[in-house]
Amino acid sequence: MDLRPAVMKVLLFLIILLPMALAVTHTLQYHYTLVTQGIHFQEFTAVALVDAERVAYYDSNIGKIIPKTEWIQEIGSDFPDYWDNQSKRMQSDQENLKQLLNTIIKTFNHTEGSHTLQRMYGCEVHNGGKTAGYDRYGFDGEDFISLDLENKTWTAANDKAVITKHQWKTAGTEAQIRERYLKNECVNWLMKFVSYSKVTLQRGDDYLSGTTYEYNDLIIACYNVGPWLGVVIGLSLFVILIICVSVFAIWRRIQKDLTSVPAPSSPNASSKANMLDF
Ligand SMILES: *[C@@H]1O[C@H](CO)[C@@H](O)[C@H](O)[C@H]1NC(C)=O
Ligand SMILES: *[C@@H]1O[C@H](CO)[C@@H](O)[C@H](O)[C@H]1NC(C)=O
Ligand SMILES: *[C@@H]1O[C@H](CO)[C@@H](O)[C@H](O)[C@H]1NC(C)=O
Repeated sequence: MDLRPAVMKVLLFLIILLPMALAVTHTLQYHYTLVTQGIHFQEFTAVALVDAERVAYYDSNIGKIIPKTEWIQEIGSDFPDYWDNQSKRMQSDQENLKQLLNTIIKTFNHTEGSHTLQRMYGCEVHNGGKTAGYDRYGFDGEDFISLDLENKTWTAANDKAVITKHQWKTAGTEAQIRERYLKNECVNWLMKFVSYSKVTLQRGDDYLSGTTYEYNDLIIACYNVGPWLGVVIGLSLFVILIICVSVFAIWRRIQKDLTSVPAPSSPNASSKANMLDF
């Protein structure tokens, strides 16, 4: 039996797992989709995700946001107007997306057929406290316009979006408002969500949140552990690796010794057997 592939896998596991455990990133994402069939039928869906887990969705029939996980419902007991505020925000976001889609359809004469307008925005917090944000629109599956956070302006992805960009620039300070939201409010709520979800994890109500990666035939589960736990897990795995390598080396040595020592001759063997009988 050759143990080398197994040792290599453990090593690979360490190499991949360690940096991931150390570079913990938390994300808050909102995904909106507006689909039209002609001009009469429209369907709007919106979801909120924390660390890629769906935590809430918006029901456009009743104009309300519905919390999906137990821990996020807790926000409502500490911030009583949170869900009402979110519902209002979604209502106005839906209205804005509808207006934009109607404008695009009219401007480009796309009155026939089905069209899709998507908006994705959110923020992330890295382990060192560094934050990032984005706000992007896509029309019929292609990039349309996105927020340039650094310059607090809009970037058009194609010629069609240039018209929208000019309209938005002349309309006012929406880019600045979005930039402020992503850098402050979004990050603050994300950190609150993370602490609420951690409390739940400690109570054991929920599974560890994490992602599974497949690397050849090796499946690696990456959990969002804290930096210290990450170091402890990494070190433990490292110790296990050292033990594996040592055992492997000793085992190889024993094998080598066994093959190099000549087999005992039969008289000796029989005398040994006699002694044992005696
Ligand atoms: C809800 O909205 C009101 C008015 O805009 C604001 O004063 C309040 O802080 C908001 N509450 C939460 C929890 O976001
Ligand atoms: C829009 O489409 C209609 C009918 O398909 C056509 O008559 C009209 O010229 C088009 N307008 C533009 C600006 O392309
Ligand atoms: C912001 O503007 C500067 C100067 O025009 C440019 O060099 C930079 O690339 C812009 N930032 C982004 C993210 O596009």
